[in-house]
Parts: sequence; C-alpha cells; structure tokens
Amino acid sequence: MEDRELMYLAENARQKSYSPYSKFKVGAALLTKDGKIYEGANIENSSFPLTVCAERVAFFKAISEGEKEFEKIAISGSGDNFCFPCGACRQVMSEFCGKDFVIILEKGKEIKRFSLDELLPYSFKLDK
Ligand code: THU
Repeated sequence: MEDRELMYLAENARQKSYSPYSKFKVGAALLTKDGKIYEGANIENSSFPLTVCAERVAFFKAISEGEKEFEKIAISGSGDNFCFPCGACRQVMSEFCGKDFVIILEKGKEIKRFSLDELLPYSFKLDK
C-alpha cells in the first residue's frame, strides 16, 4: 500500500478522536506485513494521564487480535506540523517492530517517512 493511501486512512481515523480537553485530534493507520490495517485515534479522559495516544490504540487493537508483524504506520495530527509520535509510543513500537519499521508523517500535503531507528535509537530492552 502506498504511503499516501495509508495517510488517508489515518486522516479518516482522526475524525474519531475523543479529545475534548486538548482539542488536538490524532489518527493513526497501522499496516501489518500481510496487508491488514488497524486504525486508532487518541482517547482522552478527564483524569488527564489516562489519555491514550492514537498510535497505541492502533497497536493494541492489532496486538490483541494476534498480529505480530508490522510494516508501517501513518500518523495524522490536527496541527499544522508533522505529528511526531511521543516517546512512550516510540517505545511501544520498539517492543513490536524492528529498526526498519516505517513511520509516515504529514504536514499539509507533504509526506515524510522515518525509520523507527531514526526516531528511537537505543530503545530500552529488558535484557536481564
Ligand atoms: N497524542 C497522540 O495521540 N499521539 C502522539 O503521538 C502525540 C499526542 C495525543 C494525546 C493527547 O490526546 C493529545 O494528542 C494532546 O497531547
């Protein structure tokens, strides 16, 4: 699937955001290696720290359906700039994805892609 197509799905998912507190909507569309798509939107709570980002909603939907291999994720935020995934979401991605997992972002009509390794080098691993 083309990056642009996946981004349309992320934009669409963004409409389902529940964000009455920040009023910042985020949508994500996650593509598995075998071509399935899981969408997510940020879900806020009046107890603010309970908020879950769009990316993690998409990942947890996929993981809880048994998915194990991921190719790329498109993220669309309601601001004017690229909506980079937060540190917590990068760490969650690193749990389930390799260094070559691709993160697609948009700014207006411009689309950029990054590898997970670029956005989170030296991620935490529980090596005992
Ligand atoms: N948010 C996401 O959904 N993904 C990100 O990568 C960054 C932030 C959400 C959380 C919160 O609902 C709103 O954006 C403002 O922080």
